[in-house]
Amino acid sequence: MLTMIAMIAGLALLGFLAWSWWQSRLPGRYDVMSYGAVEVGGAQPIAHNHFGVNSLTGPKGTPDYKVTLTAEKAPVRLASGQEVNAWTFNGSAPGPELRIRQGDLVQVTLVNKDIGDGVTIHWHGLDVPNAEDGVAGVTQDAVEPGGRYVYRFRPEQVGTFWYHTHQDASQGVKQGLFGALVIEPNAKTRGLDLALPVHTFAGHIAIGTHDDVQRRAVRAGTPVRLRLINTDSASARFLLSGMRPSVVAIDGAEITPAPVPAGEVIDIGAGGRYDIAFRMPGGVASVEVANSKAALVLSPDGSGNPLASPSGPVFDPAVRSGVLRAFVEPDFDRTFNLTISKKMGFFNGRPGRHWALNGKLYPRVPMFEVAKGDLVRINLDNDSSSVHPMHLHGHHFIVLTRDGKAVRPWSTDTLLMLPHERYSVAFRANNPGLWMLHCHNLKHAADGLTMHLMYAGVTTPYRAGKSVHNDPE
Ligand code: C2O
Ligand code: CU
Repeated sequence: MLTMIAMIAGLALLGFLAWSWWQSRLPGRYDVMSYGAVEVGGAQPIAHNHFGVNSLTGPKGTPDYKVTLTAEKAPVRLASGQEVNAWTFNGSAPGPELRIRQGDLVQVTLVNKDIGDGVTIHWHGLDVPNAEDGVAGVTQDAVEPGGRYVYRFRPEQVGTFWYHTHQDASQGVKQGLFGALVIEPNAKTRGLDLALPVHTFAGHIAIGTHDDVQRRAVRAGTPVRLRLINTDSASARFLLSGMRPSVVAIDGAEITPAPVPAGEVIDIGAGGRYDIAFRMPGGVASVEVANSKAALVLSPDGSGNPLASPSGPVFDPAVRSGVLRAFVEPDFDRTFNLTISKKMGFFNGRPGRHWALNGKLYPRVPMFEVAKGDLVRINLDNDSSSVHPMHLHGHHFIVLTRDGKAVRPWSTDTLLMLPHERYSVAFRANNPGLWMLHCHNLKHAADGLTMHLMYAGVTTPYRAGKSVHNDPE
C-alpha cells in the first residue's frame, strides 16, 4: 500500500515537472503581450481606443539630420595594436558618434550588410515615439542581412545618450553594435566636449578604442565636459584626479552641478551616463577606468601620466544630485510593486534558479498597464545578491526614496540597484506604446529579467521567437 502511494506521488511529481518543463518552452513565434500577467496598479485603466505600436511613428517632413548606419562585421584595431573581430556600424566600433541639435528632425537609415543574427537600433535614454524605439519583436522586426529600416524622431531632450542594437542585444552590443549619441542645445558651448563610451572588447577595456592612455593637449582654463557612458553589462568605476570635477548631468538630464569631493570615485551602472565638467587646471588632469589600462590624460602640453588613483567612497547621487527641489509627494494614479528575485524552475526548458519578477519567470512576468497622463509610482525591490541596473524605455524615472528614506530626487533612465536595495520611483505616462522594462546587465535580460510597460489599448503586430528571428534581449 505504502509503496503504491509513494509510486503515485512519484509519478505525480514527475508529471508536474514534465508539464512545467513543457510549459516553460518559448514558442517559435509569440506575442510578448499574450503571456504577461497584467497588473493595473490600483485601478483599471480605460482604453479609449485601440492602436498598434506601428502607428506611433516619428514626425514626417524633410529631415535636418540624416545618416546611414551600416551594420557589418569588421576587424577593429584598438590603440594598443590589439585587433578584435567586431560587429560594427560603418566599419567602426564604437559606431560613429552622433551629435544632433535639439529639435532637429533626425532620420537614420539602418542597413544590415552581414550580421546574420539581425540588427535594430534602440536610442537608449531618448524618449522617442514607440515605433522608433528599435526593439525586435515588439516595435519592429529585426533587420536581416540585405534589409534596411528607417528611424525618424525629433529629440527634445539635451544630453548624453547612446544607441545600440536591440536584437539579441546581449550578443550584439558586446560585439560592438553601439555608439555615443549626444543631443546638443541650440546655443553652441565653448571648450572641450568629449563623449567617452567605455566598452570591453574581447576582454580589453577601452574608452572608445583606447585600451591604453590617450593624451590630449588642453589649454589651462578651458571649460571641459566629459560624457562618461557605460556600454558594458557590469558597472564601471571612474577615477578622477588633478581637477575639481562636478557631476552636471545624469542619464541625459541636467542636475544642479554637484562637486565631486576629492578622492570620491564615480560608479556608473550598465547603460548609465554621467557628465563631468571642470575648468582645465595648469597641470595634468586624468580620468581612469578602474582595473584597466584605459585612461584619458589632459595636460597643457599633451604629455603626462594618469595620477595616483583615488580610492575613496563612491559618489552618491541620492545625497548629492538635487535635480529637483523638494518633490512634493503627489497623488499617484497607480502604484506598482516589482520584486526581483531568483527562483527554482524552468526557463525556456532549462531547469535551474532563474530571475523572477514578482515571483514569475519569463515570459509569464508582470506587465504594468497604464493610461496616458497617469502619474505612476513603482516600488522596486532587489531581493537578490546581484546588481541590477533597471532600464525603462521611453520614459525617465524620478527617484523618490531608497531603502524607505527620501533622497534628493534625480532623473534616471537606468537605475543602478545594488544587492538588496529598495527604491521608489515615479514617472509621468506621457509616451503611449509598448515599452520594455529590463535589467541592463544584458545577460540578465537574456535570462528573463525583462518585462513590459503597456498603455491601455496598445497592441503589437510583431512577434518574438526563434522562428520569426526576433529576440529583443
Ligand atoms: Cu539600452 Cu532595452 O536597452
Ligand atoms: Cu540584472
